[in-house]
Amino acid sequence: MFGTEARDALYDIIRMRRDVRAEFNGERLDEDTLMRILRAAHHAPSVGNTQPWDFVVVQDEQRLKEFAEHVAGCRQAFADSLPEDRKSTFDPIKIEGIVESGTGVVVTYDPERGGKHILGRHTIDESGLFSAVLAIQNLWLAATAEGLGVGWVSFYEEDFLADFVGVSAPVRPIAWLCVGPVTRLQEIPDLERFGWRKGRPLEEAVHRDRFAAPGDREA
Ligand SMILES: Cc1cc2nc3c(=O)[nH]c(=O)nc-3n(C[C@H](O)[C@H](O)[C@H](O)COP(=O)(O)O)c2cc1C
Repeated sequence: MFGTEARDALYDIIRMRRDVRAEFNGERLDEDTLMRILRAAHHAPSVGNTQPWDFVVVQDEQRLKEFAEHVAGCRQAFADSLPEDRKSTFDPIKIEGIVESGTGVVVTYDPERGGKHILGRHTIDESGLFSAVLAIQNLWLAATAEGLGVGWVSFYEEDFLADFVGVSAPVRPIAWLCVGPVTRLQEIPDLERFGWRKGRPLEEAVHRDRFAAPGDREA
């Protein structure tokens, strides 16, 4: 169905996608591109075809600054919770590019979309949440294909963000995504470059028939 060129391009996009914090170039993405990547998100699979996501786009500079201040407080609280050695590793790591990216996309999850009888969610309630996360991954890969960067920010109090974008229970904000043009994408993830945590080889993640023996599970 697809030629090798398209297939290879997709694998390249998946491999080159990065979580971006420091590389936003200060410009704002244009409206057509924004809508293309939101459409890609909206094409995600969802349990019972419920499409339980919504997207709140925040571009006002004052609002971006306000959210960034909240996040800075949460970052500080995390830093304060760390033992000394981890704290010094964490210190230089930037965890967001909220203002520099120029655009925040808040993804929300509505567990009630689709009503009470959702095909495929009667035993695994989180399958609704999984669906919304797939929309995020679609957006992330589409943005990468567009030459944009995306940074997922989770250093926030959920109640603060819910209030900030005006959603109330049972709808939850599940991610703040910084989206914008970049100078480049790093080849190696920031957390690896800064010595926080390395990735692990695929071989360790693949199991045949059963998971590894008890005690083989790494932290
Ligand atoms: C659910 C989720 C939440 C994340 N939250 C943050 C965050 O608050 N700040 C941050 O800098 N990166 C955050 N990240 C990005 C991860 O740190 C990053 O994906 C990981 O280190 C691997 O790097 P890569 O995405 O560049 O491959 C988050 C990623 C996910 C999937």
